[in-house]
Amino acid sequence: MSSGPPGAAGHYFQAEPSAPSRPATVHLHLPDVDVELGVDRGVFSAGRVDPGTMHLLRVLPPLPGGDILDLGCGYGPIACTLARRSPDATVWAVDVNQRALALTAANAASLGLGNVRAVAPDDVPGGLRFSAMVSNPPIKVGKLALHEMLQRWLPRVAPGGEAWMVVHRHLGADSLAAWLTSGGRAVERRGSKQGYRLLRVTAAPAATPPAPGPAGGDGPGSAG
Ligand SMILES: C[S@@+](CC[C@H](N)C(=O)[O-])C[C@H]1O[C@@H](n2cnc3c(N)ncnc32)[C@H](O)[C@@H]1O
Repeated sequence: MSSGPPGAAGHYFQAEPSAPSRPATVHLHLPDVDVELGVDRGVFSAGRVDPGTMHLLRVLPPLPGGDILDLGCGYGPIACTLARRSPDATVWAVDVNQRALALTAANAASLGLGNVRAVAPDDVPGGLRFSAMVSNPPIKVGKLALHEMLQRWLPRVAPGGEAWMVVHRHLGADSLAAWLTSGGRAVERRGSKQGYRLLRVTAAPAATPPAPGPAGGDGPGSAG
């Protein structure tokens, strides 16, 4: 995560930003996606597409279809890119900032992306499980809030699915990776540029049970 300080505009993760609206656009340019996106004051990185987000979108491999979560969507650069790349997937763009959600919905609509659902966290259907999660997480909410947020959403990634997160090393990428590992997840670093780390997070492989010995009672021939 990066972006400058919130200053007088307040925090980008406020539900209702206090900064008066000043709509603008930013250019998102990738090898496969070249679009203008609407932004506004009071949302994360409204001056340009965040460099951490750019790194993530450049390095991210193709994702499976199904339901994909963009956790902390902001004005939607990740959600719109994923929706464009995977037209058969449904991208759940989740944020606490109402202005960010409105921008994501408007950006998706103007790009003709009918597969983006921009919703508040509590509006994601409870039983939904995601084939993948992608996030430039809000490090500046503080470690406790960040961990709570990840503890809420990571378990909703379906078995076999993966979560991708970009975090700058100066903002705690390595300590976040260590925390995830200590919580029983496998973390791989998949690309690092200008201090931005892309983390691939999966459920840690289950320990292989010991092979039954010749006298073992649980083998195929044992009585039930
Ligand atoms: C670093 S910004 C990334 C925004 C956008 N994905 C991008 O790449 O430009 C993180 C986002 O997480 C949102 N956020 C903060 N707390 C959240 C929470 N508890 N649940 C969901 N989103 C949250 C913030 O409002 C912010 O938009």
